[in-house]
Amino acid sequence: MIDAETVARLDTQAQQILRANDRGGYTVPTKGLYPFQWNWDSALTTLGIACFDADRAWQEIEKLLSAQWDNGMVPHIVFWQHEEGYFPGPSEWQSERTPPTSGITQPPVAATVVRQLTNFLPGDHRTRVTPMLRALDRWHQWFADARDPDGIGVVAIMHPWESGRDNLPDWDAPLAQVDTSNVRAFMRRDTQLVNAAERPLNHDYDHYMALVQFGRDCQWDVKTIAEKCPFWVAEPGMNAILRRAERDLVALALHFNLPDIATRANTRLARLDHGFNQLWSDIAQGYTTLDLRKNKIEHRLSSGSWLSLYGGPENDIRAKIHYSTLMEWRQKVRFTMPSFAPGDPAFDDIRYWRGPVWAMINWMIATGLAEHGRPDLADQLADDTAALIEQSAFREYFSPVTGKGGGGKDFSWTAAMWLYWASPNTRQQTETH
Ligand code: GLC
Repeated sequence: MIDAETVARLDTQAQQILRANDRGGYTVPTKGLYPFQWNWDSALTTLGIACFDADRAWQEIEKLLSAQWDNGMVPHIVFWQHEEGYFPGPSEWQSERTPPTSGITQPPVAATVVRQLTNFLPGDHRTRVTPMLRALDRWHQWFADARDPDGIGVVAIMHPWESGRDNLPDWDAPLAQVDTSNVRAFMRRDTQLVNAAERPLNHDYDHYMALVQFGRDCQWDVKTIAEKCPFWVAEPGMNAILRRAERDLVALALHFNLPDIATRANTRLARLDHGFNQLWSDIAQGYTTLDLRKNKIEHRLSSGSWLSLYGGPENDIRAKIHYSTLMEWRQKVRFTMPSFAPGDPAFDDIRYWRGPVWAMINWMIATGLAEHGRPDLADQLADDTAALIEQSAFREYFSPVTGKGGGGKDFSWTAAMWLYWASPNTRQQTETH
């Protein structure tokens, strides 16, 4: 139990972080390490901003969607301002756009966030929300056309960064197929700002840059990417988030009387709901990554596996399997949800996506658990998240073993998740509504 004084202090600090990371219409993930607008950071951070400034919250999403490409993609980074030394910056991506952007996308949480906002914020949102829904529909259609051109019902990523879970062990085998012999020498900046033990390895970065080079060389042409990109995998996190986003887009479109959007989103959703089963691994007893180039399924679970419950309704048998695996994981670590299977040789409690707990992933998993009739398990995740923040403040992520914070400090989405969800004050308010 966190005492009331500490809760009040953390509530204030979280707001201060979001205000300090505000660059005028968009919020940076953290000062220094990530000085631009990141797609899913920004969308999830909006939930925290909504707790104290509704108008500013809507602006965050509007600003992100204003960087949408003509083909519908909403990029993973928008370089709104010049920042010397960030790597890889606009000249590596060569998006040929103003403002410059990266050439890839990130998990599409924005539609889900917009739906949360329409429920959470008072007022008539029609005028503001309608153009957003049009943009989201085009983005989701881009996923269908560009990342699942054969209509198999799962979307692929062409770069680990697209998943938002940069150095997950799932990428090790598919990345090993990527030729890095043409990668030029480069200078990373992240390891000058935070402890190298908490970041991806140089070896990983060579592969990340080879894929950036591949995209740049074909001018981010989606057909060439789908046919030839050496890294082409379907993973449960991205696919669950997209399913969820389509579901939320359908609900929003019906609510705001936009039947054409509802019809298109429903058609895409039916395909994704059906296709998701391809990611089930009998050996792992859960959803895992499918390497589409080799048609090879991964047999280890990650935090993306848990997002299946957030993605949509799960059948009873599989839901029970998830709950018993959750019990097993809770025996192995002090704080859930680790980003990778604890006990596996690749598990590393402090290295980024190879073990640490992330607050916003916990919110998504908890949302799925609550919707499956397990508010008790959802509450445990909120308690763990609150305990981590109490112990280590608003860090980028936390060790599931010790609770130690890692990566950047004063992190926007951690602060947002505290305000919107994990703070005992917020939870009390939600219960009394
Ligand atoms: C890292 C994370 C990614 C996040 C970005 C900015 O690349 O893996 O999920 O969006 O940092 O915080």
